[in-house]
Amino acid sequence: KNIAIVMGGYSSEYNISLQSGNVVYANLDIQKYKGYRIHLLKEKWVYIADDGSEIPVNRHDFSITIDGQHILFDGVFNAIHGSPGEDGYLQAYFALLGIPQTSCDFYQAALTFNKRDLLSVLKPYGIKTAKSYYLNLGDTIDIPAIINAVGLPCFVKANKAGSSFGVSKVYAEEDMLNAVEVAFKEDDEIIIESFLDGTEVSVGVINYKGNVTVLPITEIVSDNDFFDYKAKYLGQSQEITPARISDEMAAKVSATAKKVYEVLKMKGFSRSEYIFVEGEPHLLEVNTVPGLTEASILPQQAAKAGISLSELFDNALELALT
Ligand code: DAL
Ligand code: MG
Repeated sequence: KNIAIVMGGYSSEYNISLQSGNVVYANLDIQKYKGYRIHLLKEKWVYIADDGSEIPVNRHDFSITIDGQHILFDGVFNAIHGSPGEDGYLQAYFALLGIPQTSCDFYQAALTFNKRDLLSVLKPYGIKTAKSYYLNLGDTIDIPAIINAVGLPCFVKANKAGSSFGVSKVYAEEDMLNAVEVAFKEDDEIIIESFLDGTEVSVGVINYKGNVTVLPITEIVSDNDFFDYKAKYLGQSQEITPARISDEMAAKVSATAKKVYEVLKMKGFSRSEYIFVEGEPHLLEVNTVPGLTEASILPQQAAKAGISLSELFDNALELALT
């Protein structure tokens, strides 16, 4: 079967996505699949041959033409973090073309990628979150009102972004405006959340061979002030799997993560982050195209569960294609 591994994307996360995509390509089961690396970048959509040469993608049917041969894809492995792979656009495009893909459907992608909307949809289900304040580009920035709502320190985040791009921890009133400007560089909406002081965990949930499965939980201990870009990608953190939390806490956060997956009717990959406050997990966000390199959290969790990278990717494709 011909599988397009789409990677890159239009956001600040494109570089991380290229790493994820190349790991998927290198670990695809070659008995079952013929993988094609496709870079979807703002400037171009191209197939990358093994010698590095590029062939443009025909966008009306997502095909490529190699030596006069028209190649259509049986499925897409989506390795694009951020837009347009994690926010619903590609999900809708491939759905219209009738090409199955490995991530959730377009609605779930659009919803989960919007932190504000996700948290408000989940609230009636008893999912706990930080206190929050929202700003759209152009809104009056009323700093006393923000601090009154969320307190200090607080987190200022782009509402629709990943890998901590646009995120700052703010300790003092005079640093708020700068943090807001940094966040608005990534998105035209921002979310400001109260600081949750507790153990942070990351919970991978996948549909594994037909069963919604919670992978071993990872505890995140950042050497930096929070789990920022450098902590995530430059080794300035410890990711401890399984997390050093009580059985009761593990059971609680597993049940919450599974409930979120089921309430949202998710498919494919998901990895959500929680912080425990007074023993209760508080949801930060849900990622539907989590990092997929060997060093990324969800692959590490799968490895602890005895699932290799090629089994993990094969499972995702099997699920998408059947
Ligand atoms: N957004 C990054 C890739 C992650 O969640 O792993
Ligand atoms: Mg994220």
